[in-house]
Amino acid sequence: MHKVIFDTDPGVDDAMALLFLHRHPEIDLVGITTVFGNASVDTTTRNALFLKREWGIAAPVAKGEGKTWDPMRNPVDWPVLIHGHDGLGNIDVPETIDLPVDGRPAHRFIIDTVRANPGEVTLIAVGRMSNLAYALKEDPEIAGLVKQVIIMGGAFDVPGNITPAAEANIHGDPEAADVVMTAPWKVVVVGLDVTMQTVMTRTRLARIVERGGKDAKLLSDISQFYIDFYGRHVEDGMVVHDSCACVYLVAPELFTTRSGAIRVVAGGIADGQTIQKPDSRHFPPGNWDDIPSQLACTGIEAEMVINLIEKTLVRQG
Ligand code: BDR
Ligand code: CA
Repeated sequence: MHKVIFDTDPGVDDAMALLFLHRHPEIDLVGITTVFGNASVDTTTRNALFLKREWGIAAPVAKGEGKTWDPMRNPVDWPVLIHGHDGLGNIDVPETIDLPVDGRPAHRFIIDTVRANPGEVTLIAVGRMSNLAYALKEDPEIAGLVKQVIIMGGAFDVPGNITPAAEANIHGDPEAADVVMTAPWKVVVVGLDVTMQTVMTRTRLARIVERGGKDAKLLSDISQFYIDFYGRHVEDGMVVHDSCACVYLVAPELFTTRSGAIRVVAGGIADGQTIQKPDSRHFPPGNWDDIPSQLACTGIEAEMVINLIEKTLVRQG
C-alpha cells in the first residue's frame, strides 16, 4: 500500500486526481493538504471538503497558509476561465461545507504525518510548491523521512502554459519550487512534457459516467467547463495534468525519465522556468552543482495512462 499526502488546489483536474487516489486499491490516502493556485486557498479548501463529503473520503483536509515563499509575489489572479469562479467548473459548489478542517496548517500536517510514518509517505504535489517548502523550512529533517515526492509542474523540453518559459504550478511560487527541487529527497517531476499528451476525451468521460456511478457523474459535471476551455488546445477532451502524477506512483513503467539536478528560475522574463542539468552533461562549475539529481519525465505511454485512469475511476468504492 502506498501512503499518500495529496497537496492540491482543486481545481478540475485536481478533482479527477483525487478520485483516482481514493479509488485506487493500492493507495492509502492519509491526508489532503490545500494550496492556492486554481483559486484562493479558501476556495480550494472549501472544494477539497466538498469533494471529501461527496465522495466519502476519510482523509483529513489541512489548509495551507495561502502565501508564496516570497511575500512580494502576493497571489491574487485566479484562472477562472479554466477552472471557473468556484474552482470546480461553475457547478455552484455550496459556500460552506459542514465538515471540520484539520487544526494544523498544511505544512505542519505534512511534518507530523511524515514523522509518524518514517520512510513510508509519498507526497504528491499538484499545485504551488509552497506547503512543501514551508514544511522543509520548519523541519528540514523530513527530507530524509519522506519516501518520494511526485510533482505535477514544470516544462523542460516544451513551452510553458502560463508563459513560453513556465508552467503554472511552478510559476505561481518559483522560490518555493526551487527549495523543493533542490532538497535532499527523491523528487520526480511530471511536467507538461508528458501531461500535455494525456487527454481524456469527452466520449471516454461519458463512458466512465455510465459505469462509475454518481461519483463519476459529479466528476463529469465538474469537468465540462474545463473541457470547453481545453477544446481550444486539444481535440474534444481535457488534459489530465494532475492524474498523471498519481499514475506515476502506481505505474512508473509507463514513463521515461531523465536524471539530473533541477533548478527553477526566479525573476526576469523566464520567471518560473524549470531547467535540468542532465547527469550525462558536463559544464563549468555553476548553479546546478552539489545538489541532488532528480527525475524529470520526458516520455509517457499516454494511452495506457488514460486506460489506467479510466479503469480506476470506474471501480466501485
Ligand atoms: C497545473 O495547473 C493547474 O491549473 C492544474 O490543476 C495543474 O495542476 C497545470 O499547469
Ligand atoms: Ca492542480
